[in-house]
Amino acid sequence: MQAKERIILALDVDSRQQALSLVKELAPYVGMFKVGMELFNSTGPAIVSAINDCGGRVFVDLKFHDIPNTVASAGRVLTRLNCAMFNVHAAGGRAMMTALSREVRLEAERLGVAVPITLAVTVLTSISQPELEKDMLISGLSVEEVVVNWALAAKECGIAGVVCSPHEIAAIRRACGADFKIVSPGIRPAWSEAHDQKRITTPAQAVELGADYIVIGRPITAASDRVAAAQKIIEELEAAKC
Ligand code: C5P
Repeated sequence: MQAKERIILALDVDSRQQALSLVKELAPYVGMFKVGMELFNSTGPAIVSAINDCGGRVFVDLKFHDIPNTVASAGRVLTRLNCAMFNVHAAGGRAMMTALSREVRLEAERLGVAVPITLAVTVLTSISQPELEKDMLISGLSVEEVVVNWALAAKECGIAGVVCSPHEIAAIRRACGADFKIVSPGIRPAWSEAHDQKRITTPAQAVELGADYIVIGRPITAASDRVAAAQKIIEELEAAKC
C-alpha cells in the first residue's frame, strides 16, 4: 500500500464548511477522512457524499452497538452512501457482526460497488483494567487478552479488521494474521505535541508494529502548514520498515 493511503485524517470539526475546506486542501496527501459523531451529527449523512465529491474516501466512525437487524440495516445504508470504512462494537456480539458482514456484502453486490471495510472496536482505550473488572464484570483476563479474543471473534464473523491502540497492534497481528485490517489512532510524529493523547506511537512505529492504517488529527489539522505536516508523515511512512 502507498504511504499516503495509510493515513486517515480525523475531521474533528462540527461544520460542513470546515470539513470540506480540510478535505479540499488535504485530499492529495491522505488516503481517507474520518467522520466521527461530532461531524456526522451536526451535518448529517450528506457529508459522506460531499467528501466523496471532493475526491476523499470516508471512514464513518459511529461505533454501532445494537441488535443484529438494526446494525445490519445501518450497514446497508452506509454501503449505499459509498462509505469506504465504518465500525461497530465487538461487544454487540457474534450474531450482530455476522448479520452485518452478510448484509454489507449483499448490498455491495446488489449495487456493484466495493464492499466497505468493516471494523470492530474491542475494548475502548479509555477503559482501564479495574473498570473492566469492577464495572464490566470481566475478570481473570487482561485488557489485551479481551482485545485479542474479541478481535478473533470479529474475524470469524466476517468483519474485516479492528480499530485498536498502538500497544495492541502486535498481539492482534499475531493472532489474526496478515489479511486482517488494523487501524490505529494515538499516533504522534516525534515533532508533534502529544495534546491529550497519553500512550502514543509514531507513524513509523505503528506501521512497523503491523498497522495498515493510522488515524491522525491534530498533528496535521493544527499544524501551521498542514500540507507540509502531511508530507512529513508520508516521508516517515515511506522510510518505515514494513
Ligand atoms: O487529533 P488526534 O490525532 O488525537 O485525533 C485522533 C482521532 O482518533 C480522534 O478522532 C479520536 O476520537 C480518535 N480516537 C483516539 N483514540 C482512540 C479511538 C479513537 O484518539 N482510542
